[in-house]
Amino acid sequence: MIRPFQGMVPRIGSRVFLPDSALVLGDVTVGDDASIWFNCAIRGDVNWIAIGARTNIQDGCCLHVTNRKWPLLIEEEVSIAHNVMLHGCTIRRGALIGMSTTIMDGAEIGEGCLVAAGSLVRENFKAPPHSLVAGWPAVVKGPLAEAQRELTSSVWARYVRYKEAYFQDGWAPAEAPVIANPQPGFAEGHPYP
Ligand SMILES: CC(C)(COP(=O)(O)OP(=O)(O)OC[C@H]1O[C@@H](n2cnc3c(N)ncnc32)[C@H](O)[C@@H]1OP(=O)(O)O)[C@@H](O)C(=O)NCCC(=O)NCCS
Repeated sequence: MIRPFQGMVPRIGSRVFLPDSALVLGDVTVGDDASIWFNCAIRGDVNWIAIGARTNIQDGCCLHVTNRKWPLLIEEEVSIAHNVMLHGCTIRRGALIGMSTTIMDGAEIGEGCLVAAGSLVRENFKAPPHSLVAGWPAVVKGPLAEAQRELTSSVWARYVRYKEAYFQDGWAPAEAPVIANPQPGFAEGHPYP
């Protein structure tokens, strides 16, 4: 379901998979060939959210932001596995966030990082590129091993194939609603609530 909020309409790229059970609301931008899976909540109501091209947000994820302070940026070719909570953080290109992880405001996960399943990433935590991050709370374990690097760099491409298989099965690519008086997003001057 794609819903405007206070005149801010989600901006959706081409061939995006987004079933009805997922909610995308307000100041949210989704890049081409991204996929957002069943029962996700992506709520751009008090700050902006950007999701890069070919990124997948798997089932049951919750993405939110902090008013005035922390938007949420997820770059291209990122995989956000099932049941992840992302709040006001930055995920750089090609990272994999393992299942049931929580990442809090101001944290930044570097390019190509792997965050192990079930981790808790604290506020303002910074992970250098291509590192393994794991634990509750999470720490940097060091550079990725070969198998971990392979896993991290392969999941996003698989998900681009999966969503195409759903399109072949009759699911339609997502389309944003058209409204009478669309308003600019927060980064373009929309007043914060
Ligand atoms: C990280 C992962 C890939 C395991 O990799 P691995 O090469 O087998 O890792 P190892 O078992 O050698 O562990 C490396 C270190 O990370 C720690 N670690 C690994 N997985 C961990 C986890 N989930 N939580 C906490 N610590 C973890 C280990 O204890 C070890 O720590 P140490 O070096 O201090 O002893 C796996 O646990 C994981 O999280 N996979 C992601 C699964 C997922 O969500 N897939 C997406 C579905 S599409």
